[in-house]
Amino acid sequence: MIIQHSDINPEYGDLYFSRENGLEESEYIFIDGNSIKERIKEGGSLHIGETGFGTGLNFLTLIKVLGAGDFSRVRVKYSSIELYPLEPERIRQLLSPFAESLGDILAHYELCWAELFPGLKAGWNESRWNFKGIEVDFRLFYGDAQDWSREEKTEEVDAWFLDGHSPDKNPEIWSASIMKAVYNNTVTGGTLASFTASGTVKRPLREAGFTIKRKKGFGRKRHMIQGLKS
Ligand SMILES: C[S@@+](CC[C@H](N)C(=O)[O-])C[C@H]1O[C@@H](n2cnc3c(N)ncnc32)[C@H](O)[C@@H]1O
Repeated sequence: MIIQHSDINPEYGDLYFSRENGLEESEYIFIDGNSIKERIKEGGSLHIGETGFGTGLNFLTLIKVLGAGDFSRVRVKYSSIELYPLEPERIRQLLSPFAESLGDILAHYELCWAELFPGLKAGWNESRWNFKGIEVDFRLFYGDAQDWSREEKTEEVDAWFLDGHSPDKNPEIWSASIMKAVYNNTVTGGTLASFTASGTVKRPLREAGFTIKRKKGFGRKRHMIQGLKS
């Protein structure tokens, strides 16, 4: 894989995602890792939480999966946390390798983001988006996940995408206080998935109350994790 300088988040010296197969990786880890397709067969609503919005690739993967199945009756709430929201032009560059696979979804998302970005304020920002009939309540917490974790419990998240860079590059986002807040903001029966199976991530998640198990990782990565609030 050729790593281009622009693939790296300079704040953490780490990649946003794999340029080669980022979409497949996102689907394997976050969509399948949370059994999203099985859970939404009945329609209804789905609340996703995410630590680390980055370019929005995980969000786009979710919309693509919902659009590909007959899931248009599902109502999506997507609550994501990001300390360094990216300029629309930077997102366009970073997501360009997926332009063909994402097609209209990407074009529409870029318009939505370009509208939201200039007015972003610290704390929660809310927007209503519609992707070919899929209604989305999009919510972005602009700020440090540590600050979010100190807020009173407000969320009722069904499934978490924990994607805040690798724990050796960014241990703060896997801290016990943030993992406890993730637990507190999850419904009973809710789940999480993460690309890393590091002990420094599993430990605070278990201490918070999640049941954590390992699963085969994507590509060359040996393991990933899934969690359940039972
Ligand atoms: C691996 S990237 C996320 C990739 C992303 N899910 C995507 O689809 O592009 C991790 C993200 O977490 C953000 N981040 C790291 N530490 C954070 C913190 N303490 N609070 C909020 N966001 C943080 C980074 O700025 C970065 O955008």
